[in-house]
Amino acid sequence: MPHVFVSRELPGPAFQRLVENHDTTIWPERMPPPYDELRRQAATADGLLTMLTERVDAELIEASPNLKVISNYAVGFDNVDVAAAAARGIPIGHTPDVLTDATADLTWALLLTAARRIPEAQTWARSGEWETWGPDDFLGADVHGATLGVIGFGRIGRAVARRAEGFGMAVLSVGRPDHRDAAAELDNLLEQSDFVTLHTPLTAQTRHLIDAAALTKMKSTAILINTARGPIVDQLALADALATGQIAGAALDVTDPEPLPSDNALWHAPNLVIVPHIGSATVTARAKMTEIAVENLLAGLAGEPLPHQVPVPAPAQAD
Ligand code: DGY
Repeated sequence: MPHVFVSRELPGPAFQRLVENHDTTIWPERMPPPYDELRRQAATADGLLTMLTERVDAELIEASPNLKVISNYAVGFDNVDVAAAAARGIPIGHTPDVLTDATADLTWALLLTAARRIPEAQTWARSGEWETWGPDDFLGADVHGATLGVIGFGRIGRAVARRAEGFGMAVLSVGRPDHRDAAAELDNLLEQSDFVTLHTPLTAQTRHLIDAAALTKMKSTAILINTARGPIVDQLALADALATGQIAGAALDVTDPEPLPSDNALWHAPNLVIVPHIGSATVTARAKMTEIAVENLLAGLAGEPLPHQVPVPAPAQAD
């Protein structure tokens, strides 16, 4: 029977089915397995079921001779070396679609929270200093009728845009901000939007897509929301933009790294909401992610096509 290493216990009934019917080692701790432990486990595994907290790099893949499938418990797969897996013919599974709406909902929760200064208002309400109602207390930004800029117009970006209709917003979008000919479109979006929300995968091209230059193009009243991947934003530039009032606020579900170290400049930035990567954290979404991750894993072990396989990169062309 093939052996599987699972890097954390997962929610939902599909996980029990996996454990009961297969030879599995499940990492038992709340903290992810350290890299060396993951490598040790992978060395004898036929299948890996990993989270975004695990680095599945070329060295680990090369040192795992039996490996037939990597099933990643996330829609994003920037933690896996896709080229190294492709070179060994190992398919990678991921969990698209089932978390689209949960992540879009969270994006809106963050947008509204930042726009209406909810954290500050709640802290005040609980502080004992709430004495009366004030005409200029906690004045925030209008969401209805504003312009929403969506960077990355895939499943999640579109789901976020659909929700904007209910707020009577104008929507600008850039589908592939990493394309060279998207630069003018991206500039226009940054200049025109009251809210800029990021939904592009993390690649070499989108790393620090939102840097100091991009932040300079945004309105001083604008709010940035990131529920995609932390490194898409240059965090030092963001901390600076918030401190100087270059932009009005930001709300982050993702940071670089995660967790954000206690001495990171962002902790001191004004008008910033941070939550700990909870975009897909609903009971239903996480249970469905487990179902898909298990289906991908079992298909790979059986040598069958994965129901949700990460596209195999085209081989590098010789000059
Ligand atoms: C993903 O799936 O990529 C999210 O970031 C976590 O669920």
